[in-house]
Amino acid sequence: MKNSVIIISAILVALLVVWLVMRFNRPGGLDKYQAPYNVQSITIIDIDDLQKQARAVIPQGGYDYIAGGAETERTMHRNITSFDMVDIYPRVLRGVDEPDLRTVILGEQISLPVIIAPAAAHGLAHTSAEAGTARGAAASGTIMSVSNYASVSLAEIAAAGNGAPQWFQLYLSKDDKFNRHIVALAESLGYRAIILTVDAPVGGNRIRDLRNDFKFPLALPNVAPKSGNTKGQGISAIFAAAQNRFAAEAVRYVKSMTNLPVIVKGIQHPDDADVAIEAGADAIWVSNHGGRQLDGAPGAFEVLGDVAKRVNKRVPVIFDSGIRRGTHIFKAIASGADVVAVGRPVIYALALGGWKGVESLFDYLKEDLRRVMWLAGAQTVNDIKRTELRIRDNCDKNLHLSEKSL
Ligand code: FNR
Ligand code: LAC
Repeated sequence: MKNSVIIISAILVALLVVWLVMRFNRPGGLDKYQAPYNVQSITIIDIDDLQKQARAVIPQGGYDYIAGGAETERTMHRNITSFDMVDIYPRVLRGVDEPDLRTVILGEQISLPVIIAPAAAHGLAHTSAEAGTARGAAASGTIMSVSNYASVSLAEIAAAGNGAPQWFQLYLSKDDKFNRHIVALAESLGYRAIILTVDAPVGGNRIRDLRNDFKFPLALPNVAPKSGNTKGQGISAIFAAAQNRFAAEAVRYVKSMTNLPVIVKGIQHPDDADVAIEAGADAIWVSNHGGRQLDGAPGAFEVLGDVAKRVNKRVPVIFDSGIRRGTHIFKAIASGADVVAVGRPVIYALALGGWKGVESLFDYLKEDLRRVMWLAGAQTVNDIKRTELRIRDNCDKNLHLSEKSL
């Protein structure tokens, strides 16, 4: 009797130890990094919940690199909270029925005004990496932007996209030949626009990565010829190997090497929008890189209205940083964006369900935006652009966001 109690207790303790090891040991080292691999549809109720679930399955170093921002992460958080500074002024007698989410951006028909922002190293979140994201984007009828720092080859991602529109995001190298080679390669593989990111002359101060001593546990094959074996390098070293100076000439330079539209990403000030457009930009992408670069910059939504007003429809405006729900998409479009992009939510969805997870994310965003449009009185994406917003705590005055910096 006594022996069996001891044996049963020992088994229970052993099971508890095994459970604790499995629950809390999320290997993040260079050799033992194991990204999730499940392919399944996922139920999304709220993107905060999605993030918590993704955190439980992505190894810690990878999770912190993805989820983190620069320094105090004040700007990263403000990207989300600044949407609360305005309210949607609903119209309820406009006869809206089954809102239509479809729109067109740079000649591409998409099923909702939300696209995928470029993000490095999807392989940290899922073994299918960017190939999984590309398949999810194609299934969802949207555009995937592919980072120069993707963890699989541009050819593999193009093949997984199966003809759906893809844009290539370029981090300029210091090497002219390499820039020409990679842009020509993207063009020949069928990528339909070049996104020139200009807000990363140097990496932001990523405290989480420093604490974790985070190094990429995987290769970034598309820049390997210039950056060497990126496996084992931190993001600061990778940025240091790229271009460190940006001005109008960078835009003219990229325009001179391609006939594809060139989108300038990372604009926060109206004067920079002017510089980019005068240098030939075909679209302006308002973004603070998800709060990963300059901590202390305003929430991206706070600068959107002023930039869009200055652009004044000369070229389309794309917006990202902090989009987590239908009301955010709606408020950004009502403030002058033509489409918005999502960064981290895509990676979380990929981690939890591979390409099917990405599809589930877009199903969620479609349903959420459709409901908001219906309740706010917008039948189409163009109607969203005409909807009035009111600045909070100032409800006696009917101010459009772009008339006042927040
Ligand atoms: C990024 N972002 C980014 N941008 C870019 O132009 N090239 C890149 O390689 C990357 N890499 C990258 C990696 C990771 C893990 C994240 C989270 C972000 C920035 C990205 O395009 C976008 O601006 C932000 O992610 C938008 O903010 P949200 O949607 O993540 O809040
Ligand atoms: C980042 C890069 C790669 O934000 O843009 O980590």
